[in-house]
Amino acid sequence: MSKNRATADGGMATSYGFSSVGEGEKQGLVNDVFHKVAKRYDIMNDVMSGGMHRVWKDAMISVLNPPKTPGWRFIDVAGGTGDIAFRIVEASRKEALGTVLDINGSMLGVGQERAEKRGLASHLEFVEANAEELPFEDKSFDAYTIAFGIRNVPDIDKALREAHRVLKRGGRFLCLEFSEVQMPVLDKLYEAWSFNGIPKMGQAIAGDGEPYRYLVESIRKFPRQADFAAMIERAGFSRVNWTNYTGGVAALHSGWKL
Ligand SMILES: C[S@@+](CC[C@H](N)C(=O)[O-])C[C@H]1O[C@@H](n2cnc3c(N)ncnc32)[C@H](O)[C@@H]1O
Repeated sequence: MSKNRATADGGMATSYGFSSVGEGEKQGLVNDVFHKVAKRYDIMNDVMSGGMHRVWKDAMISVLNPPKTPGWRFIDVAGGTGDIAFRIVEASRKEALGTVLDINGSMLGVGQERAEKRGLASHLEFVEANAEELPFEDKSFDAYTIAFGIRNVPDIDKALREAHRVLKRGGRFLCLEFSEVQMPVLDKLYEAWSFNGIPKMGQAIAGDGEPYRYLVESIRKFPRQADFAAMIERAGFSRVNWTNYTGGVAALHSGWKL
């Protein structure tokens, strides 16, 4: 069991939270987690982050600033129940066309229901597929977004290369993910809440604390900001940078395909 963060040189493919798993085992375990939490995912997001995930997601969409003109296409990978895609379509005044891609049919099912309720279904397609092998031609999209998804993907380098491949020249890559807290006092509070509070809330609200233990541990394993930026550059992206949110609890990484 290793609690150290993965680096730009690897370590995520065989880590399932703090446990080491065999090559090829991680995705199945991750899929079990999201099948279990799908129905309670949205409420648990609010509980786990004290509503902050909404603020971070809104900030991501402001950075993306989708055009309010027709013909602009985006893909939201690991899109789950649709939070990012809904925000993008709404910010474009319903001009953008989006693909919500996720490996997990249970998460996508919740997303599709929500899209219909919000009147956004005609602007979105839902595709069940792996971030490591996107079923799209080269240069298909103007933007690629992924929020709280990349740390669950076993081969992050492969997913980043796929992101680069499916973007058009001039396309934008944006990744929102939990990251390394930069303030020691906040870090201590955050750690106490993550390892004690969140699994207990999972048990109380969703009837099972175990999936939430994985989610918390996987956050601690994810590469720190500069290491992840190096991975994005290695996949071919230019002008890579990041912005910390809430002292680094989350970070938004940005890159361009030039
Ligand atoms: C924490 S949820 C994030 C959902 C959504 N983006 C949000 O911000 O609310 C992580 C998602 O990653 C998906 N996922 C995990 N591995 C994946 C993979 N290899 N390819 C595509 N999606 C994956 C899971 O099924 C899950 O829906």
